[in-house]
Amino acid sequence: MKSRLFWKILPGFLIAVILILYSVWTAIVLTSDDYLSSERESARIVATYQLSAAQLAIESGGIAKFKELSQSWEAQDSDPRSGRNYWNRLSVVETKRVIDSEEATNGRRDFVVVYAIDPESKKWAVRYKLPPDTPPESWSITDAFPSILTIEWVIPGLLGGLLFSAILVWYVNRPIQRLRNGFRKLAEGQLSTRLGPAMGRRRDEIADLANDFDRMAERLQQLVLARDQLLHDVSHELRSPLARLNLAVVLAGQDAAAPRAPLQRIESEVERLDGLVGELLSLSRGESDESERDDYFDMRALVDAVVDDATFEAQYRGVSMVARIEPEQHTLMQGSAKLVRRAIENIIRNAIQFSAQGDAVEVSLSVDGELNQVMLLIADRGPGVPEADLLRMQEPFVRLQNGLDRQGYGLGLAIASRAVQCHKGALVAANRAGGGLVVTVTLPLMNMVLHVADCIVEKEE
Ligand SMILES: Nc1ncnc2c1ncn2[C@@H]1O[C@H](COP(=O)(O)OP(=O)(O)O)[C@@H](O)[C@H]1O
Ligand SMILES: [Mg+2]
Repeated sequence: MKSRLFWKILPGFLIAVILILYSVWTAIVLTSDDYLSSERESARIVATYQLSAAQLAIESGGIAKFKELSQSWEAQDSDPRSGRNYWNRLSVVETKRVIDSEEATNGRRDFVVVYAIDPESKKWAVRYKLPPDTPPESWSITDAFPSILTIEWVIPGLLGGLLFSAILVWYVNRPIQRLRNGFRKLAEGQLSTRLGPAMGRRRDEIADLANDFDRMAERLQQLVLARDQLLHDVSHELRSPLARLNLAVVLAGQDAAAPRAPLQRIESEVERLDGLVGELLSLSRGESDESERDDYFDMRALVDAVVDDATFEAQYRGVSMVARIEPEQHTLMQGSAKLVRRAIENIIRNAIQFSAQGDAVEVSLSVDGELNQVMLLIADRGPGVPEADLLRMQEPFVRLQNGLDRQGYGLGLAIASRAVQCHKGALVAANRAGGGLVVTVTLPLMNMVLHVADCIVEKEE
């Protein structure tokens, strides 16, 4: 079992079991009469047995039979605790009269006496001398304990411990795994992730945690949607004054008396602003039409087309394009072909822009039948990106040091990553061994039901 929790719980559990066994054992031993009885009590048991046997022997076979019997007792060992022998304490004398035992002891608690009449009618008194009445010796717990640490106990104990720990870990680990998946998905940008339903009827701290997670995800989703909405609205509002400005510039240009240079400058700035607003609108995905949201398209053909287009730009920069498109048959996807195309274009264009003359940009598309997804890899041999910035560069308006001198607003990757997320896919950037960047896009294939419309901000009007 790969679980780390398991290996933490198992030793704790075993130690707890051993401690419990130890204290139960100690409690039993300390309260049991057997262990605490004095020596005299132990001797009395032997006495009762020996005296009644002696009485029987004398009554049936006379003193000769008694002697025979007492010889067999002499072979008995001493008591291991006290070192005293309880078996050789009998003495026998002939007596004139027979009295009952109560009277015979007559306050002398050191003896137990029985009387017997042999077949020849002689009377005998058999006396057992009790040992001194000492309290039990102090006794150490460790004397008794090791006796249960035998193989018969240890192996089932260990197996039980393993089983119990495995069940416990399974019970705790399963929801933790679900929580982990939830956090991972949320971190990947799937803000619609909710954990409540996965917890079922669970009502404990873990379920509370899942509920808190859901509240957090809900809030994040609202914030992101609000931001998108704002971005969309602002960009949208900027469009009309920009259009009017453009028109004004064109009209002013027709006036021969107007100064050329400033007008040209204004024109190019307006163009740039218009481009930015266009990108912003793409980022908030407000531009995609209702009809495009539920397109069906072939990923293989789409990548083919984007690579074809990019080859021109690449040739112009002296960069070669190497495409490896594995799938033989159609790779049907559902969603917005326009968004996905835009995403792939942005990534490929970055790869070309950051390549030096003579470098190659590699594009490869493959299908993972098991996970039912397509995987697109776009790799270059450019400068790569510092590890710490790999995630950050996907944020809007982030341009790293290596991108500052180029055209662009730092929106390309943000748009790409949004578009991929809308299709329940993932975009991951990593540095390549030997230099350069590789961007991996995974997208689910057709039969994963998609709701791209869910994350597209509704366009008013
Ligand atoms: N293939 C790449 N190699 C190195 N750096 C890259 C690559 N792609 C993107 N980057 C870095 O990530 C930043 C963000 O990229 P992007 O969102 O496309 O914005 P832009 O292209 O407008 O600068 C870039 O400015 C650049 O610093
Ligand atoms: Mg770019």
